[in-house]
Amino acid sequence: MRTILVLNPKGGSGKTTLATNIASYFSIKNKKVTLADCDPQASSQDWLNLRSDKQSSIYKAVLTQSNLKVSKDTDILIMDTPAGVTDKRLIKFLSQAQTMIMPVIASPIDIRAAEHFIEKLFSLKTTINHKIKIATVANRVREDTLIAAKLEYYLDKLKLPDGKRLPFVTMLRQSQNYIHAAERGLSIFELPPSKTYYDREQWEPLLRWLDSTRSQPNN
Ligand SMILES: Nc1ncnc2c1ncn2[C@@H]1O[C@H](COP(=O)(O)OP(=O)(O)O)[C@@H](O)[C@H]1O
Ligand SMILES: [Mg+2]
Repeated sequence: MRTILVLNPKGGSGKTTLATNIASYFSIKNKKVTLADCDPQASSQDWLNLRSDKQSSIYKAVLTQSNLKVSKDTDILIMDTPAGVTDKRLIKFLSQAQTMIMPVIASPIDIRAAEHFIEKLFSLKTTINHKIKIATVANRVREDTLIAAKLEYYLDKLKLPDGKRLPFVTMLRQSQNYIHAAERGLSIFELPPSKTYYDREQWEPLLRWLDSTRSQPNN
């Protein structure tokens, strides 16, 4: 089973948006997907509950007393996490996944917070021993703003302890498409392609990374 963790201690960075869209993407590709909602706010669960029978099916898993029950035939487990995960829960989450995606909002405060978090992340031995593959994604980017350029610069510079680049895989623009999709239990991949052309294009590098061995340990 492949486990993809979506994590950033900062609330509102886009974890649920990424987790639900990734879950939908793989389920459309006929993978058996489980979306694990590890956040008591239960936004991913709410999203799943909104889905109709017409949509590709995605299993639900809920974290109870730090235990996650996942359907045995799952191909891909996507873990949506709460805000504020910087304590021992972080080590537990990291030890369960092969891949981690960290969405970062294009604002100076969020960028600084991300920088501190990444320092912390790499001070944790687990991350390095487990060889979890981590990538950042810029989210809610207003492409015309200066901060967008800074974010790209900063995220692109992030290094792993071994000196390798921490992949900054893509920038996702701020788009009503995410909001419209979410309120119907859909992803942008389930909205008309003509309306989501630009967003799908921005997802391409992230999906290529997830589909490749580059996002899996020992590569
Ligand atoms: N790229 C985007 N464009 C527009 N709205 C977005 C985008 N990403 C997230 N949002 C909205 O921002 C809010 C916070 O996103 P969410 O995914 O719930 O963050 P988190 O799970 O990290 O708290 C939600 O209302 C979501 O619909
Ligand atoms: Mg959330």
